[in-house]
Amino acid sequence: ARLVVLVSGSGSNLQALLDAAADPASGFGAEVVAVGADRGGIEGLRRAERAGVPTFVHRLRDYPSRPDWDRALTDSVAAHRPDLVVSAGFMKIVGASFMAAFAGRFINTHPALLPSFPGAHGVRDALAHGVKVTGCTVHFAEAEVDSGPIIAQRAVEVRDDDDEDTLHRRIKEVERGLLVDAVGRLARDGYRVEGRKVYIP
Ligand code: GRF
Repeated sequence: ARLVVLVSGSGSNLQALLDAAADPASGFGAEVVAVGADRGGIEGLRRAERAGVPTFVHRLRDYPSRPDWDRALTDSVAAHRPDLVVSAGFMKIVGASFMAAFAGRFINTHPALLPSFPGAHGVRDALAHGVKVTGCTVHFAEAEVDSGPIIAQRAVEVRDDDDEDTLHRRIKEVERGLLVDAVGRLARDGYRVEGRKVYIP
């Protein structure tokens, strides 16, 4: 399966996908054919370049309107003919043309157990709520942020002395494995979505 991965930051989730794809023994069954970003100069893009994967950048401020940006992003992703598009720490909300082009094959990873703590501060919000267990979720993206059918989740315990940084670090260790596992299963085994439920044979 062909993956296009979208990033905005350090790209450690992207790296996990690149590593799995580069390791023939992993049985991953997918390759990263391109990496897109909404900003330049980030480690995520450097990781792609080191792996020899083509990159593209579309900065919102370079476009007259958000729909124009969204169409440019959609076209760049589509040019790589992805089977799955993975938002791995991509911090922009995509628009109607993107969702129309990739609905049902656009995947997001989120650092909380959805539907709890959606949004840009899932780790901070879980800590502030005082939950004892949080985690990460890989799900199909829908127009509403951090909604959409859940593909896989893993739990992470919250420690009394956690701050946002320590907790996010432990979540990300689990999240990388979860993402590789989930994307690999979708790519190898196929899937069907019925209502809110995702079935992988
Ligand atoms: C991940 O925890 C992702 O779920 C969140 O931001 C983090 C991205 O990390 N939205 P990285 O760029 O993959 O290292």
